[in-house]
Amino acid sequence: MLRSFFLYLSAAGWARRLLMALPFATRVSRRFVAGETLDNAIEVTQKLNEKGLMASLDLLGESVHNEADAKRATDNYLALLEKMAATGVKAYASLKLTALGLGVSEDICVLNMRRILTRARELGHFIRIDMEGSAYTEKTLKVFRTLREDYEFSNVGIVIQSYLRRSEQDMRELAAEGSSVRLVKGAYKEPAEVAFPEKADVDANYVKLMEQYLSAEARAKGAYLAVATHDEKMIDAAKRFVEQNHIGKDQFEFQMLYGVRGALQESLAAEGYQMRVYIPYGTEWYPYFMRRLAERPANVWFIAKNFFRG
Ligand code: FDA
Repeated sequence: MLRSFFLYLSAAGWARRLLMALPFATRVSRRFVAGETLDNAIEVTQKLNEKGLMASLDLLGESVHNEADAKRATDNYLALLEKMAATGVKAYASLKLTALGLGVSEDICVLNMRRILTRARELGHFIRIDMEGSAYTEKTLKVFRTLREDYEFSNVGIVIQSYLRRSEQDMRELAAEGSSVRLVKGAYKEPAEVAFPEKADVDANYVKLMEQYLSAEARAKGAYLAVATHDEKMIDAAKRFVEQNHIGKDQFEFQMLYGVRGALQESLAAEGYQMRVYIPYGTEWYPYFMRRLAERPANVWFIAKNFFRG
């Protein structure tokens, strides 16, 4: 119930205007967002790097409605690449295709991605394409394949959500293509026709897809998996599977969100696992922040506490 309510709010313009106008809201968003500027994001990344954690930097913003805004987002990502190279942080960039114009036109989006991937390749960087709501799944996969197959970029990866019924087939195809996949449970409000409504099914599918993607057959094709979850049951299942199958700690990685289960992030890194933290930054924090509340409504107490603190 609460999950649905927060996911509804994440897309509601009136709620966005209301919350973003509250002075305490920006402060509260800092629990999950590094700050509004690129410098804030680099600072947080450097601190995490010092603790042995890698980063995935995400400039917040999604669903632009015109070509000029998509170009602006592309330029901002190019600036991020330059800054990462100049500072030498252990990080790559994550982005949403709707921020680069996918909702306006596929051609514009591909063009913007080509600019980003070309510069990233020159700098030796990798780009992860986030996965959005199911209205964009097919389109996102299509752009991803256009970039890899038609334009021969190998420095790009994708995200698959275990709540989607189609994901098993998608993962099978992506494994055969030797793609880099970040596996998540899925953060959007989806109808039962496309997504499993029961958490137990989402979790069971997560473990199944993870094990398939870590199989010797998939890895032999070049497939690489980022196990992105805060769920200790999923993490333990991954640890068990790699141990039983003698898979090296350098052959996959764990990923978690900035502000969520920091101690667990550090303990996995201390155990020698590759651990990457997804660090969002920028002024467009509202929908991202609401999706984080939807995942864990207990976080609302954290907001309430801050509200009364003034
Ligand atoms: P689950 O929701 O079952 O949570 C397990 C436990 O983790 C909880 O009991 C709690 O202890 C803790 N926890 C989880 N979320 C929390 C929160 N917000 N605050 C505090 N504690 C929390 N989704 C998507 O659709 N497209 C994408 O591209 C991405 N990208 C992405 C990158 C990375 C690195 C991560 C970790 C996640 C995403 N996601 C995503 C989000 C993902 O789909 C999912 O919504 C969240 O990771 C929550 O699911 P868990 O796997 O953590 O399990």
